[in-house]
Amino acid sequence: MRDLLSISDLGADGIEEVLRLTDSFVEVSERRIPKVPTLRGKTVVSLFYEDSTRTRLSFESAAKRLSADTMNFSVSTSSVNKGESLRDTVLTIEAMGVDAIVVRHASAGVPWQVAQWVGAAVVNAGDGWHEHPTQALLDCYTIRERLLERGGSGSFDGLVVAIVGDVKHSRVARSDILALTALGAEVTLVAPPTLLPPGIGSWPVVVSHDLDAVLPKVDVVMLLRMQVERQDEALLPSMREYTATYGLTRDRARLLGGEALVMHPGPMNRGVEIAADVADDPRSTIVRQVANGVAVRMAVLFLLLGSGSEAHG
Ligand code: NCD
Repeated sequence: MRDLLSISDLGADGIEEVLRLTDSFVEVSERRIPKVPTLRGKTVVSLFYEDSTRTRLSFESAAKRLSADTMNFSVSTSSVNKGESLRDTVLTIEAMGVDAIVVRHASAGVPWQVAQWVGAAVVNAGDGWHEHPTQALLDCYTIRERLLERGGSGSFDGLVVAIVGDVKHSRVARSDILALTALGAEVTLVAPPTLLPPGIGSWPVVVSHDLDAVLPKVDVVMLLRMQVERQDEALLPSMREYTATYGLTRDRARLLGGEALVMHPGPMNRGVEIAADVADDPRSTIVRQVANGVAVRMAVLFLLLGSGSEAHG
């Protein structure tokens, strides 16, 4: 694999390979000194044109735990503010000798463009409303981890997953749907009609507008953040009304089975899409998702840059 731009680049086998590799990096992350020399001499740069806490820090710690050198590019302090184009910025960074570029951008497709300009490996860390493949991988890893902890086989076949909220603006939802269905899960989207994208009819999902009816049947419920920064029109009567109908409130969480998992990619709006108590419930995997995110990104960087990635020498 040369780049990781979309979950579709991986297919079911590729996803399984990343999940398998992640096991060994979870083990590394739990060591007293969580560091291996695997990517010594490689340089990983993060090129983030959009805000991020978890994803940027997660890639950075993943690279560091693999002993790669890291560079950080943040738009607010760069020459982008002097009018430098994306292409010139990327070529400047490449001229410094980098092996991987982790890109986040508000426009869909930017990581593909960057991949055409450079020889370095490109990882999509979120492009507009489009995709966020490493988030989907860490979500799948976290689900499997919980299934295995309970003595199950870890198979996704027939697993029922509800993705709830602002699907329209969510790259997390798009990548998760691709990954979960590739592994055999059944995905139900629950959202008001105004927060579903056009063309949803062709997606491999069931759509519902009744969260109370869906919750008792799910193995996993995944809440999405209301992407207010991407909404330029009034899509909801009010946040209070949204929470009353689509929020995972404390009362509504009682409809979930005792074994159901509650997930959220972060950043959470506590009290909007998820009640504070529910986020901290033992069924919640939210903190585990963040921890697994580092190991998953170690696996991805290893696949792209480690031994076996001859394309990058
Ligand atoms: C998400 C993102 O930026 O796509 N966060 C993340 O990476 N964990 C989701 C969001 O912003 O709501």
